[in-house]
Amino acid sequence: MPTHTMRAIRLHEFGGPEVLRYEEVPVPEPGPGEVLVRVRAVGVNPPDWYAREGMPDVPPELKPPVDLPLIPGTDVSGVVAAVAADVSGFAVGDEVIGLLRFPTVLQGSAYAEFVTAPTSDLARKPAAIDHVHAAGLPMSGLTAWQFLIELGHDHPSPFQEARHRPMALDGGTTVLINGAAGGVGHLALQLAKWKGARVIAVASGAHETFLRELGADEFIDYTKERPEEAVRGVDLVLDTVGGPGSRRFLRTLKRGGSLYPVYFGAFDDKENAELGVTVTATQVRSNGAQLAELGRLLDTGAVRVAMDSTFALADARAAHERAARGHIRGKIVLTVDQG
Ligand SMILES: NC(=O)c1ccc[n+]([C@@H]2O[C@H](COP(=O)([O-])OP(=O)(O)OC[C@H]3O[C@@H](n4cnc5c(N)ncnc54)[C@H](OP(=O)(O)O)[C@@H]3O)[C@@H](O)[C@H]2O)c1
Repeated sequence: MPTHTMRAIRLHEFGGPEVLRYEEVPVPEPGPGEVLVRVRAVGVNPPDWYAREGMPDVPPELKPPVDLPLIPGTDVSGVVAAVAADVSGFAVGDEVIGLLRFPTVLQGSAYAEFVTAPTSDLARKPAAIDHVHAAGLPMSGLTAWQFLIELGHDHPSPFQEARHRPMALDGGTTVLINGAAGGVGHLALQLAKWKGARVIAVASGAHETFLRELGADEFIDYTKERPEEAVRGVDLVLDTVGGPGSRRFLRTLKRGGSLYPVYFGAFDDKENAELGVTVTATQVRSNGAQLAELGRLLDTGAVRVAMDSTFALADARAAHERAARGHIRGKIVLTVDQG
């Protein structure tokens, strides 16, 4: 059994990477339906720094409740250390991965040596990969899955009324992925290729070899060429960059095509109707069953998680500083020393 205290990263006030403090805190206790996970690695995601900053861009009514001090982190890979009395299906010693409680709470407290996890958020760690790569999967992988393959829930996006329904992908579909080298983008590219689609990857030039190795059929360096001018007649744009600039991709779509902005932006229903296209989005949600399906693709090698960089848990500040420099290729992951 674990000892009573553990090391964790906490923030006591919102701000820059310097607010992330490495501290001694109590080990949490699993509630009903939960297990305690001994954390081996933690995936770093944009919501980690949105939370660290106090979510300045999110309207107050959409902000989940938050109590400080807060342990950030949603993505975990580790080993089950204890189980609540009512838990079946997971046992001490199982290797697991999960996107924890997203978006129910602001952060899932994964930047720690131990974290509690609802079993519904967990899947077995893919046996073929290590904890570091496995920790990079949950949020980015589930985002790509829920946008492109299967939504898996009925919750409307808080940012858009239209219900998201992934378009069926096959050998006749052309998909443009903007921000293709990032956490969501590199996994979305591989899922689209797994379905047989033709993929146009958009990223800065340094990522070309990486993205072609992952299966990109065409590559556009957005620093040299405007993808919205170079491309016409695609079925689907997955824009992982999103925001106000996402609308420019509407003109790349054929009639009947769809744009999926992963980060919310502003669109005009009238313009979409005139172009004969649809724009829909979703907010990723924890889903252990979908994560298990993704895990099988990692086990077969159909999909892989690429590593941008790794940092020790104690150096979470440096990991956030790395993220702030941008141009991420794959995932940033924190490793947790089990000494
Ligand atoms: N809807 C949801 O539930 C959901 C879930 C997960 C993430 N998100 C959002 O999706 C976004 C992406 O997340 P992520 O984890 O994939 O981020 P990430 O790992 O930081 O990747 C972002 C990628 O975008 C590229 N990029 C930046 N500017 C670009 C531009 N102008 N044109 C093309 N590519 C550009 C970056 O590299 P280069 O510039 O070098 O190409 C980087 O590879 C974030 O805003 C996140 O908040 C939303």
